[in-house]
Amino acid sequence: MSGVTSGTKVAVTGGCGFLGSHLVDALAARGHEITVLDGGSPPPDQKTDGVHYVPADVRDPADVTAGLPDDVEVVYHLAAVVGVDRYLDRPLDVIDINLLGTRNVLERASRTGARVVVASTSEVFGKNPAVPWAEDADRVLGSTSVDRWCYSSSKALAEHLVFGYVREKGLNASIVRYFNVYGPRQRPAFVVSRGVHRALNGLPPVLYDDGGQTRCFTYVQDAIDATIAVAGHPAATGEAFNVGSHTETSVGEVTALIAELTGAAPPAPVATADALGARYQDLRRRIPDTRKIGERVGWTCSTDLRDGLAHTIDWARRNPWWLAQDDSGLSAPG
Ligand SMILES: NC(=O)c1ccc[n+]([C@@H]2O[C@H](COP(=O)([O-])OP(=O)(O)OC[C@H]3O[C@@H](n4cnc5c(N)ncnc54)[C@H](O)[C@@H]3O)[C@@H](O)[C@H]2O)c1
Repeated sequence: MSGVTSGTKVAVTGGCGFLGSHLVDALAARGHEITVLDGGSPPPDQKTDGVHYVPADVRDPADVTAGLPDDVEVVYHLAAVVGVDRYLDRPLDVIDINLLGTRNVLERASRTGARVVVASTSEVFGKNPAVPWAEDADRVLGSTSVDRWCYSSSKALAEHLVFGYVREKGLNASIVRYFNVYGPRQRPAFVVSRGVHRALNGLPPVLYDDGGQTRCFTYVQDAIDATIAVAGHPAATGEAFNVGSHTETSVGEVTALIAELTGAAPPAPVATADALGARYQDLRRRIPDTRKIGERVGWTCSTDLRDGLAHTIDWARRNPWWLAQDDSGLSAPG
């Protein structure tokens, strides 16, 4: 487990976000010295003792240099604009942060010698119908006039930057591609988080279109375990890994499960074409092939969907600040 022994100095960009805050918790539990680079603030329920928070915009090279001193050994790069609502509203930020932010982090790490793990996404595969997707599956995207694809395209370019830095500059970097992660602290703009948020606020969960589109919902702790395992594995350098559950579940099934576990009213249908128009396109099935991360890194997804949802709902009931968050109403299956 080179580079991530207890006490190692590590940094997390985007460490105030959903995945980043759980990563910080996990790294703190392992005894690391942690710096967070983020433009936001940590979630109210997070223990922040001993964590060094640096207000930073990863688009700014000076912020990245200041936040990543020479002695940081591992950088987890998670900062990004995330969520279909935001890809549609803020495509320029989505693109700039994925491209400039990733470039700045990689450039800095190539100077300091830090190991880097970059967060990417199942969205890079677009709407390729040939599921499950191995890491080297084709990317199948829609037109550039459909804003939805700006996230996929800019994350894919960020991945190209990683591979370029590894090959041309000898950077020690890996990519993790997350598949529909859910859990405590996630902004209520995604299938699970919005469903739980609405249900516990006395509203029916939303059923998108016919609810027959499928995803492999991945509990956040599993995704974090995978990320740390990739960071610590010498055979992971220069490689991308799918990080996702094996269980294909329809949006209709997960929504019904949320209604059952919370006692909410039956799901209310929403037509994404009416709500979001031509800037959005759905995809029917999204399924990872996770053999590579299993064989090379030894990680496998272990949390059952029902258990992960029950943890998420229990946490939400204990965190009124999250339940009081605004639900913009603009969301779609990511
Ligand atoms: N949540 C998922 O299911 C999922 C799926 C695939 C990929 N990912 C990737 O995982 C990473 C984390 O996602 P998340 O769900 O935790 O998102 P999030 O929105 O909860 O967290 C992102 C964090 O990045 C910070 N940030 C945004 N722009 C910044 C900038 N310019 N400079 C510094 N900080 C900035 C935000 O303040 C926020 O704290 C992202 O790279 C995302 O693309 C997430």
